[in-house]
Amino acid sequence: MKALVIGGNGFIGYNLVNLLLKENHQVRIFDRYPNRFMPPLAEVENVTGDFSNHGEIAEAVRDVDWVFHLAYTTLPQTSNDDPVYDIRSNIADTVQLLQECVKNKVKKVVFISSGGTIYGVPQSAPISEDHPTDPICSYGITKLAIEKYLHLFHWLHGLEYVCARLSNPYGELQNPDAKQGAIGVFLGQIARHQPITIWGDGNVVRDYIYIGDTVKALLCAAQYDPAAVNGPRVFNVGFGEGHTLNQLVDAIKVVVGPQVEVRYTESRPVDVPVNVLDISRAKKYLGWQPEVTLEDGIGKSWQWINSLQLK
Ligand SMILES: NC(=O)c1ccc[n+]([C@@H]2O[C@H](COP(=O)([O-])OP(=O)(O)OC[C@H]3O[C@@H](n4cnc5c(N)ncnc54)[C@H](O)[C@@H]3O)[C@@H](O)[C@H]2O)c1
Repeated sequence: MKALVIGGNGFIGYNLVNLLLKENHQVRIFDRYPNRFMPPLAEVENVTGDFSNHGEIAEAVRDVDWVFHLAYTTLPQTSNDDPVYDIRSNIADTVQLLQECVKNKVKKVVFISSGGTIYGVPQSAPISEDHPTDPICSYGITKLAIEKYLHLFHWLHGLEYVCARLSNPYGELQNPDAKQGAIGVFLGQIARHQPITIWGDGNVVRDYIYIGDTVKALLCAAQYDPAAVNGPRVFNVGFGEGHTLNQLVDAIKVVVGPQVEVRYTESRPVDVPVNVLDISRAKKYLGWQPEVTLEDGIGKSWQWINSLQLK
């Protein structure tokens, strides 16, 4: 198949592109910037452009079978600062993309939604896809709205899609200087001999999934044919197990050694106390399940962070 990966030079995108190439798919990357750690891949068609530019997106969507939509202008923790920007830049530009997908008869759109924010404060855990959706950040609301537009475009135009409600991915190419991604940030701080900073008391529970398992789920989502099995189009993608931040630090210490200094600061209103996803639907319909344990995944991440020789 020929795949367009929008945001293909980011953390998840670049890992996905490598998997697609390994599986002998053709790839076009559409991104504003090159990957910050890796050189451009020779076997990929690299298109530099901005997702908000209608003409550039219309051109990028030509002659592709699959569109993976990974570009996003906001993060959970910053989205509440300017919800109008979040709405304009993410919802409107994605609807523009969907119109181009219909025109170009794209076979499948895979959208990376957010299992971590879309449900809000959970009433129960693990959280299934049928759990109420009451996000406590604008980012969760715009992700949810885009899921609804995908449903609408399927209803109106037969555009086929899958939404992957992703939990907390980590692993190779996760930027240690980013504003999200606890494992990458913590390992970066340790590599620089700095203390780890935890917001709150460290009892916040999250569902960490290794990047290799994450991108396999996205490929399975592209290959899955919901119409053939009368199946769902929205899936949780996580490991399905919860760890507190304090437990995460203990797991990191097993890999990097015990000399890890932890500092606790004030908790953030945007952080839900618990987020663990029920992944039984993805196991059943996508024929996928995560394989890399937290300990092994932290080991792989630590090896990669060390290769950066951070100062
Ligand atoms: N990383 C996570 O913890 C996580 C969790 C759940 C969902 N997601 C979603 O997964 C997707 C990918 O996340 P990531 O962690 O790989 O992010 P990332 O920032 O590493 O990568 C995003 C890529 O998109 C590109 N991009 C952003 N805006 C663009 C624009 N206007 N035009 C062209 N390119 C643009 C960036 O240059 C970057 O290369 C996002 O939609 C994000 O919301 C991420």
